[in-house]
Amino acid sequence: MHLSTFVLCLSLGALVKCASGSEWCYTGCEHTPSKWKDISGSFCGEKRQSPLNIVPGHVVTDPKLDNFTFVNFSSQHAIKSMENTGHTVKCKLKDNEVEVSGGGLNGTYSTIQFHFHWGDTDHHPGSEHMIDGHRYPMEMHIVSLKKGLSVQQAIEKSDGIAVLGFFINATEDRNISEAWSRLTSYLTNVTEKDSEVEVSHNISINDLIGNVDLTKFYRYMGSLTTPNCNEAVMWTVFQEPINIHKDLVQLFPMKAGFTNAYRPPQDLNGRRVFASPATPLPPSPPWCYGDHCVKCILKDDLVEVSGGGLGHVYSTIQFHFHWGSTSHDSTGSEHTVDSKRYPMEMHIVNKRKDLTLEQAVKTPNGLAVLGFFIESKATPKSSSGSSGHQTTTSTSSSGSNEEYWKKLTEYLPIIQNISSNVEVSAEISIDDLLGDVNRKSYYRYNGSLTTPSCNEAVVWTVFKEPIEVDHNLMMMFPTHAGYSDVFRPTQRLHTRTVFTTSASSFSGSMLPVLLLAYLCAILM
Ligand SMILES: *[C@@H]1O[C@H](CO)[C@@H](O)[C@H](O)[C@H]1NC(C)=O
Ligand SMILES: *[C@@H]1O[C@H](CO)[C@@H](O)[C@H](O)[C@H]1NC(C)=O
Ligand SMILES: *[C@@H]1O[C@H](CO)[C@@H](O)[C@H](O)[C@H]1NC(C)=O
Ligand SMILES: *[C@@H]1O[C@H](CO)[C@@H](O)[C@H](O)[C@H]1NC(C)=O
Ligand SMILES: *[C@@H]1O[C@H](CO)[C@@H](O)[C@H](O)[C@H]1NC(C)=O
Ligand SMILES: *[C@@H]1O[C@H](CO)[C@@H](O)[C@H](O)[C@H]1NC(C)=O
Ligand SMILES: *[C@@H]1O[C@H](CO)[C@@H](O)[C@H](O)[C@H]1NC(C)=O
Ligand SMILES: *[C@@H]1O[C@H](CO)[C@@H](O)[C@H](O)[C@H]1NC(C)=O
Ligand SMILES: *[C@@H]1O[C@H](CO)[C@@H](O)[C@H](O)[C@H]1NC(C)=O
Ligand SMILES: [Zn+2]
Repeated sequence: MHLSTFVLCLSLGALVKCASGSEWCYTGCEHTPSKWKDISGSFCGEKRQSPLNIVPGHVVTDPKLDNFTFVNFSSQHAIKSMENTGHTVKCKLKDNEVEVSGGGLNGTYSTIQFHFHWGDTDHHPGSEHMIDGHRYPMEMHIVSLKKGLSVQQAIEKSDGIAVLGFFINATEDRNISEAWSRLTSYLTNVTEKDSEVEVSHNISINDLIGNVDLTKFYRYMGSLTTPNCNEAVMWTVFQEPINIHKDLVQLFPMKAGFTNAYRPPQDLNGRRVFASPATPLPPSPPWCYGDHCVKCILKDDLVEVSGGGLGHVYSTIQFHFHWGSTSHDSTGSEHTVDSKRYPMEMHIVNKRKDLTLEQAVKTPNGLAVLGFFIESKATPKSSSGSSGHQTTTSTSSSGSNEEYWKKLTEYLPIIQNISSNVEVSAEISIDDLLGDVNRKSYYRYNGSLTTPSCNEAVVWTVFKEPIEVDHNLMMMFPTHAGYSDVFRPTQRLHTRTVFTTSASSFSGSMLPVLLLAYLCAILM
């Protein structure tokens, strides 16, 4: 009996199904997705599961994700048959004809089949992966095994399987793709479970992919999305969808006889999702220097900033730090005042509430960044220059709550490895970190992001009074991060004007609504 669980049947919806007698389904049986973990021998309750809701704001660019090499994707005769498995519609490919490598994959993978996930006939979408909570109408999975491995061997290796995921978008465009018309015409021949039809039309995989930009993709380590959910998949999810006519999308649930054939998104469990260099990402990762940043991402819509002459309501998305070196009198602020560079600078990044992040980076006042200088509490002054103005800016330095800085910096040793991140469980609010620094006295100018791609979308507010932080805590940034001088040199003013608050110019405190913010992650 035990042995029989190792008998493989290349199956149905699942790439692999073990003959353990466990039936599974999306709806209408005992083992629906939330119960898949109870199926004996399944990995569905483990920590590296797929699909995911991919949040581009938390994705990191990986330069190692180079261009793919596709072999025989343009072959007109690679598709052997179409089969209704009862869980999906699967197109089997001829053996050893189609291959994929590159794209950051370790080695060559032999493509064996592709299949689909869909919603229902009422236009309810059914992709498995989601982008920022958006579910596309359908998703196509092109499944490849590491070359030379059997299915059984592949599902036992952490990178034994490579799946290329393509979103399918439903359009009204009457210019129906010839390849999709031909392919979907076979759906009428596979209306019954376990029925299979030979594909004789000339259809290549490239014809189906169309003009999707294959250099733009996400990558993460995950699992099969059907039982037994083996954690063996290097996932590639292409950013651009394949656009096909909505009538063709409807054919899948109509002809196959079942609907909503997708698994809900799974927990990330500390995994990172990477993106190829060509993939456009919202501005949070580009704030880092290469992979290097210490950044606190805030839970969505928790903290807001308005007033202070900004003219819009902004929601706070993250804050991060710029610093110098480990030397005692190092300076690393980005802005300087009368040529004085402060030891550190904290940036609180806010996005206009009425815009998406992608729109905001293209709008001149789409982002508002609040900059706070950070000065050492222990040493009286860091005297690099002899400017007479320097004393006027630092004499009134504000005390901040040391306890909270201590809590925050305690997380730095844990995230020493680049790309590691940690859930911050201690409750620290931005207010706690700012202490009683004067929020009514600041400089204001129109500027840009200080890291590539330097979008000129930022209304800058640089507060005059520095936050005071214990010197030893400040030293933890260069020490534990392992890199120094994380600041961009000052830029030319050109024709811009820097405004400053005077006693009466802007009424109202700058930060009226900085509520309690739970930090949710620090990324490096
Ligand atoms: C990757 O492909 C794109 C588009 O096909 C091309 O522009 C680019 O030069 C390629 N990159 C490399 C490193 O070959
Ligand atoms: C590509 O397909 C052709 C037949 O169409 C086959 O002869 C060739 O071996 C295939 N290439 C690879 C690398 O498998
Ligand atoms: C690449 O694959 C080979 C063969 O499967 C394996 O020995 C090696 O450890 C892999 N390398 C990485 C970086 O995963
Ligand atoms: C998806 O299709 C809709 C409707 O045709 C269209 O408005 C939208 O731009 C498409 N999305 C993408 C990402 O192509
Ligand atoms: C229709 O699509 C084909 C190929 O997909 C393209 O060559 C043609 O220009 C398109 N026609 C229109 C009117 O969009
Ligand atoms: C597929 O179904 C159509 C319509 O029912 C039929 O005309 C055609 O012969 C079938 N094709 C195959 C290969 O069975
Ligand atoms: C299908 O491909 C074969 C061989 O490549 C070619 O001779 C034939 O004309 C093609 N059929 C159609 C309908 O394009
Ligand atoms: C950092 O990575 C190294 C090697 O990958 C590992 O041995 C070490 O435990 C990691 N350190 C932390 C703090 O995660
Ligand atoms: C920033 O630019 C806008 C127009 O885009 C202008 O109305 C505003 O006065 C400028 N603000 C500053 C501080 O220069
Ligand atoms: Zn799938």
